[in-house]
Amino acid sequence: MTPSLFSPVTLGAVELPNRVLMAPLTRMRATPPGDVPNDLMRDYYAQRAGAGLIFSEATQVSTWGKGYMDTPGIYSSEQVAGWRRITDAVHEAGGRIAAQLWHVGRVSHESFHGGQPPVSASAEPYRNRTTVRGEDGRPTRVNCPTPQALTTEGIAQTIEDYRRATENAREAGFDAVEVHAAHGYLLHQFISEVSNHRDDEYGGPVENRVRLALEVVDAVVDAWSADRVGVRVSPIGSFNGLDDLEGGDTGLHLARELSRRQLAFLHLSEPDWVGGPELDDAFRVALREAFPGPIVGAGAYTTEKADRLLAAGHIDAVAFGRPYIANPDLAERLEQGADLNEPNPSTFYGGGAEGYTDYPALA
Ligand code: FNR
Repeated sequence: MTPSLFSPVTLGAVELPNRVLMAPLTRMRATPPGDVPNDLMRDYYAQRAGAGLIFSEATQVSTWGKGYMDTPGIYSSEQVAGWRRITDAVHEAGGRIAAQLWHVGRVSHESFHGGQPPVSASAEPYRNRTTVRGEDGRPTRVNCPTPQALTTEGIAQTIEDYRRATENAREAGFDAVEVHAAHGYLLHQFISEVSNHRDDEYGGPVENRVRLALEVVDAVVDAWSADRVGVRVSPIGSFNGLDDLEGGDTGLHLARELSRRQLAFLHLSEPDWVGGPELDDAFRVALREAFPGPIVGAGAYTTEKADRLLAAGHIDAVAFGRPYIANPDLAERLEQGADLNEPNPSTFYGGGAEGYTDYPALA
């Protein structure tokens, strides 16, 4: 039978009642100074429990992993306690939630690191901006500085940070974790030959460039179980100052390596929602061959795009981003063919309940 958005699917150890997933969405509303998940976030996620699976907003595994103001972390006991209240509320509302584990690398600012430059694969200038707290306390956009290259010890510490974050995610009651290896953040900075110019075992040929991502995934699996772990990738596209339009072959190599690890899913972030190319079917076929396990697609999906790609067997589920910001009951609305609320981009990042928990559900 052809799968639909509303038929069940199993991602590793997690059984989903439908294939309408909520994409990871940074909203910058954690409580400072400890970047602690709070009860406003709890209400927001619980409202969206009708999703087959919620991916949490990107969540830093360490202070070095932070690059924007008021994003939540998952390395302190206060943060774990905050997340526990959120996962409990989602479960009570009948949902499931995975933690997206994040290290921004160079997409950051010295003000988050006691004046020191952020870390990356290589210490090279690049052009991008991030969001820090301005003098008036409100979000303000600033240029990212030239990063410092991670040392061998720094790499080992980073892997340990992911391991501990995974233990914390388990303790906080998440159903799974997703390693964020997409969008020009740290793991992608190592994976791409555009941003990685190292001459050690983490740079050069593709086998070396994917090494950090795979070592992180192995540590995360070790801390939990392969059937609770997925990875988000964006092999082709331009994200956060990393212009990686030629990353297809590298992405396929990584997908083959991940497939050998029997993970719960591979999450493909497609570039067309930020003006990038539409992925062609040849790439989708090659990716399916490289990764026979469950594939989640994301990026400018409509029900039509979803139906076509599900029927073709290119993907197994869809993560919706902006539609989930504006429609807490998106899965229900899509199933009923109901009208959708329009998202308001001016309230995406930072602020309070407005544009966050006040989008109406269907009566
Ligand atoms: C995002 N996206 C994103 N991706 C990710 O992996 N981690 C994150 O924290 C975020 N944060 C985020 C915030 C906001 C406000 C937007 C709009 C997007 C990307 C997101 O998961 C998704 O891939 C895109 O939004 C494309 O899907 P839609 O919106 O076209 O359905």
